[in-house]
Amino acid sequence: MDFKKAVAEKVSGIAGLDLETVNRLIEIPPQEDMGDFAFPCFALAKTMHKAPNMIASELAASEELKADWLSRVEAKGPYLNFFVDRGAFAKEVISQVLKEGLDFGKAEDGAGKTVVVEFSSPNIAKPFHVGHAFTTILGHSLSRIYEKLGYKVVRMNHLGDYGTQFGKLITAFRLWGDEEALEKAPITELLRIYVKFHEEEKNDPELTTSARENFKKLEDGCEEEVALWTRFRDLSLKEFNVLYERMGVTFDNYNGESYYSSLIPGIVDMLREKGLLEESEGAQVVKLDDKKLPPCIILKSDGTTIYASRDLAAAKYRYDNYHFDKNIYVVGLPQALHFQQVFAVLEKAGMPFAKDCVHVGFGLVKFQNMKFSTREGNIVTLEDLLNESVAKTYEIIKANAETRNSGMSDDQLREIAEKVGLGAVIYTYVKAGRERDIIFSWDTMLDFEGDTAPYLIYTYARTKSILRKAAEQGFVPAEAGSELLSKLSGDEEFACVKMIADLPDAIRKAAASNEPFMLSRQVSQIARAYNRFYNNCSILSGDDEEQKRARLALCQSVCDSIELGTYLLGISVVDQM
Ligand code: ARG
Repeated sequence: MDFKKAVAEKVSGIAGLDLETVNRLIEIPPQEDMGDFAFPCFALAKTMHKAPNMIASELAASEELKADWLSRVEAKGPYLNFFVDRGAFAKEVISQVLKEGLDFGKAEDGAGKTVVVEFSSPNIAKPFHVGHAFTTILGHSLSRIYEKLGYKVVRMNHLGDYGTQFGKLITAFRLWGDEEALEKAPITELLRIYVKFHEEEKNDPELTTSARENFKKLEDGCEEEVALWTRFRDLSLKEFNVLYERMGVTFDNYNGESYYSSLIPGIVDMLREKGLLEESEGAQVVKLDDKKLPPCIILKSDGTTIYASRDLAAAKYRYDNYHFDKNIYVVGLPQALHFQQVFAVLEKAGMPFAKDCVHVGFGLVKFQNMKFSTREGNIVTLEDLLNESVAKTYEIIKANAETRNSGMSDDQLREIAEKVGLGAVIYTYVKAGRERDIIFSWDTMLDFEGDTAPYLIYTYARTKSILRKAAEQGFVPAEAGSELLSKLSGDEEFACVKMIADLPDAIRKAAASNEPFMLSRQVSQIARAYNRFYNNCSILSGDDEEQKRARLALCQSVCDSIELGTYLLGISVVDQM
């Protein structure tokens, strides 16, 4: 039973407002004394010709609002506050989690619909820096969230594999390239020769000419240049794939910018046919004055294409191939104007899918008093960040394991540190609204009591260990549907049940606003509520066996909620630590 919906049905029945509207208006009050659900009566003032306060007190007294699953209904100012029967609520919610396990929160909202999620999109031959980590982590999480809601998700990696820099790299590699180094650490080597090119270019204009020629040859499809470029691309991707694999990130399509170059003539023709293309200072542009945007350049004066034209071609490609209902670009906020222009051009060109394109932007990444041993000069790569986080986590859990005499092997500790260390980084990226800048600090992100992944994972592991211990002692958690579950009505228990009950809604909200933090916040609240319960109530001691079994069922539900919630964020849990 969906309690919110049941409340909505009751209100809709007596207030003469449609169910959907009521459902949308119902709030989850911030304080316990305001009930579990609240309906603001403002919306009824017009039809009922009364002040909201009066409506609220009249409705509160109505017989029709009584039900065995409601303990009481109260008017407070203009609000109608519903207090559910705790036992009935707990039984319902926990039964559902026990039945569905990790499928809890799964929905069919997106059945038959496709969402394209473009994320990561690093640049070939360049280090995978912490900004690319932001899009990778957000996009990975959003993909899983949409999937949970029943959407078909297409993960696209729009690799930056096109541009004049590849002409430079070809020239540089022929002059100074080290084969062995390229095979061993491709990006480090490519970066080295790229930097060298720029230094040498200052005194040697011939280098510039050579690079330009090589880029032209590449564009014209000359064999040797294409072969070198392909190698740079493949080797870079191989290196990126190590990171993706480490984080469990996958893609369905790796078409880079270069792929779309060949589709640009089609776009240019289409824009010309529609009379949208104009000449401006030699370049071909689409004017966007009516949208209060600067013109979007389609072809430069020398006839070469630009970033925006490749994006126009890519958007059409995505629609033609996937018939998306939504096309999401997880790209940093500095590119907001670029996407406004691209979407505006699509709209002017009458592309029906223009309105379904969304830029999901994010802020900057900063570091607070953190030293890194970086391979790539002063650029902090994701690999550096992950390695350092894992190393620090290892020290913490190792010390902890020694104090507790846990008997865990070093391999076990390392495996745990890998998951927790990665989780700590990932969580830092998803714990706040994505448009806010992120400040990394070891103290904050590795605080086992803070709003962190280590805290969530530790809560999970400790709860798992309680369940194991209980099993050893012969206690089985109460089953789905069991009356024992209605015993979970104490303040701490009920608070925890409520947080779990709101998880499906948090998943929906995260998708609706493309904000994984709406979910991370809920998971964190579940863990907080559970820990309050854990600190105040004994689970295994005492001799009320029925209560024990009910509480173990709560433990089980908390574990499932944390596991599925963190999974949707891209974080893995561990069974012990
Ligand atoms: N490769 C670009 C960068 O690193 C991001 C690509 C964004 N995606 C797009 N469709 N333009 O800045």
